[in-house]
Amino acid sequence: MTVIVPELVVVENNNLDHKEEINKEEEVTKEEQQDLKRDGGFEVPESNAFGHSFRDYEKESERKESVEEFYRTNHINQTYEFAIKKKEYYEKLDKTEMSIWECCELLNEFVDESDPDLDEPQIEHLLQTAEAIRRDYPNEDWLHLTALIHDLGKVLLHPAFGHQPQWSVVGDTFPLGCAFDENIVHHQYFKENPDNDNPLYNTKLGVYTENCGLDKVTMSWGHDEYMYLVSKGNNTTLPPAALFIIRFHSFYAMHRSGAYRHLMNDEDHEMLKWLHVFNKYDLYSKSKVRVNQEEVKPYYLSLIEKYFPAKLKW
Ligand SMILES: [Fe+2]
Ligand SMILES: [Fe+2]
Repeated sequence: MTVIVPELVVVENNNLDHKEEINKEEEVTKEEQQDLKRDGGFEVPESNAFGHSFRDYEKESERKESVEEFYRTNHINQTYEFAIKKKEYYEKLDKTEMSIWECCELLNEFVDESDPDLDEPQIEHLLQTAEAIRRDYPNEDWLHLTALIHDLGKVLLHPAFGHQPQWSVVGDTFPLGCAFDENIVHHQYFKENPDNDNPLYNTKLGVYTENCGLDKVTMSWGHDEYMYLVSKGNNTTLPPAALFIIRFHSFYAMHRSGAYRHLMNDEDHEMLKWLHVFNKYDLYSKSKVRVNQEEVKPYYLSLIEKYFPAKLKW
């Protein structure tokens, strides 16, 4: 099967200007940059499963401990079996019905108060990312919409929705059913993951074959995978590169560190170019560029209408 990947037109200079401009405008300090680093990495927590409040931290060391504790729990509990069960449960899409915009609003209700990296409503982050990309890639409307929806899977955290624990919604994602690569953040905690001792899952290829393609791979469960299932299950007409971005934007070991190349096929490499483009904007847009929501809303509603049904199953 041939997958059509939109051609990537490199706008390097444009991007550089944009970066400089944002950095100048926002005077992002080095310390703040540290906090901006990972979108899928560590975003939402107000309090984690252990009752630590991330907003209360006075000391950087406390924060680091909390983040580390988060990843310890994540790495111990994300097993091949766990991810498959979650996928089977959520891909039924029988939980509720709502539009993309309704989901944005639902997410807005609570994430804005809880994300130590974002002191603005979640929708601001989504629109900032989308608008920054739109400015540099005006013709790729699919990419603008991808930016708007990439984090909507976080509704799994919402008390009125999934109310799932943080460790199963946010954080870096990674393949299951094969060995954990040492480039995954806090790799040491996989020692306590039962899959690590299972000979079926602890070899380089595990249950996979060489260059089988990432679409064959079971990823750790989180907001990325969920939004991918929702998009696909509702027959979005977004191109494959959009689904690739949604599904793998927190897969830092792959797109940042170059790990797991042995599972990727040629199409993955093509789509990875777009993920790299997207990722730059996802990070930089966690700054204080204001977006006039009312002004841009009609544009995004028109994109939603173009690529999605009016009501989606979730
Ligand atoms: Fe994001
Ligand atoms: Fe994300």
